[in-house]
Amino acid sequence: MTETISIRDRQRLQLAPLTVPNRLLLGPGPSNAHPTVLQAMSTAPLGHLDPVFLGIMDEIQSLLRYVWQTDNPMTIAISGTGSAAMEATIANSVESGDVVLVGVMGYFGHRLVDMAGRYGADVRTITKPWGQVFSLAELRTAMETHRPAILALVHAETSTGARQPLEGVGELCREFGCLLLVDTVTSLGGVPIFLDEWGVDLAYSCSQKGLGCSPGASPFTMSPRAMEKLQNRKTKVANWYLDAGLLGKYWGSDRVYHHTAPINLYYGLREALRLVAEEGLAACWQRHQKNVEYLWQRLEDVGLSLHVDREFRLPTLTTVCVPDGVDAKAIARTLLLEHNIEIGGGLGELAGKVWRVGLMGYNSRPENVDRLVDAFKQVLG
Ligand SMILES: Cc1ncc(COP(=O)(O)O)c(C=O)c1O
Repeated sequence: MTETISIRDRQRLQLAPLTVPNRLLLGPGPSNAHPTVLQAMSTAPLGHLDPVFLGIMDEIQSLLRYVWQTDNPMTIAISGTGSAAMEATIANSVESGDVVLVGVMGYFGHRLVDMAGRYGADVRTITKPWGQVFSLAELRTAMETHRPAILALVHAETSTGARQPLEGVGELCREFGCLLLVDTVTSLGGVPIFLDEWGVDLAYSCSQKGLGCSPGASPFTMSPRAMEKLQNRKTKVANWYLDAGLLGKYWGSDRVYHHTAPINLYYGLREALRLVAEEGLAACWQRHQKNVEYLWQRLEDVGLSLHVDREFRLPTLTTVCVPDGVDAKAIARTLLLEHNIEIGGGLGELAGKVWRVGLMGYNSRPENVDRLVDAFKQVLG
């Protein structure tokens, strides 16, 4: 047999084994994975129908119910990033013509609008300036106007650093016979969440932020009310890969092949969730809150101000105002290249106006706050 690529190409392809810089990931995600999570991910793969692997999937389901504080039987990981789990909630709950009301207070609200529209929803929006959140009274007024089948909100808006309060929203949705869909991508593991108590019907998250795993295995859950809507659909779920009915047969009692699970990512997710359970969920939330308050204090001490009102700030993601005349991108680049620290820039309306600093999962530690603020001081002069 003869090779069809040229010798020159082959030489170009003879690379050294992979090495990457050791960065401290303090941006909007991913955050650094815990060392034992990385270790778990380098364990030899099992087959995706091996009884031992199926047992690991069961453990993931139980642990996800714990971190989300839900009893939903349909609680699984989607093989894909947070956006895949986001699309799973929309694909399974929306039928063509359904009114979907989206609370847009940042970049990810717009993504929900885009996705719901692609599944044929009659999308309505309410908006807030980036950095603010909706009051219950504002949500009630919007429900009266739009009478939606689904209300979609982002619990932790990563583009702004604001936390949308959810107390009372589930009751409001029940009063209007509507499902409540919530994005918990930047809250799970770091911000108190009580899915069942708050009456959340559909939620999704990711593995690479508060849980401290690598991206690619994303939590997804549906309440019995959301399952009922799924079962009563007149049309098939338009997305085969994300169809909760089909996925349920792999994760549930049938245990039949649907897709080849990313085995090693599931190992990592299981370890990341185990670590949260070992620490205790409430203790984990408290650690995030304590360390972020230390971050806020230290940033303010060096003369920086924060974008969101204290009451609605996220423990996982802080938006720091860029001082006048400072080139936000250049500072972030120097932090990365000279200090090995990644932070995020502003998105959309906040581009160039804020930096986004994440303290999530394993990274939420005081020594990381010190390292970042000391570097910031140096770089800002
Ligand atoms: C609030 C929110 N929703 C959805 C996503 C999408 O997740 P992913 O990038 O893992 O696809 C993100 C990503 O940062 C996010 O912050």
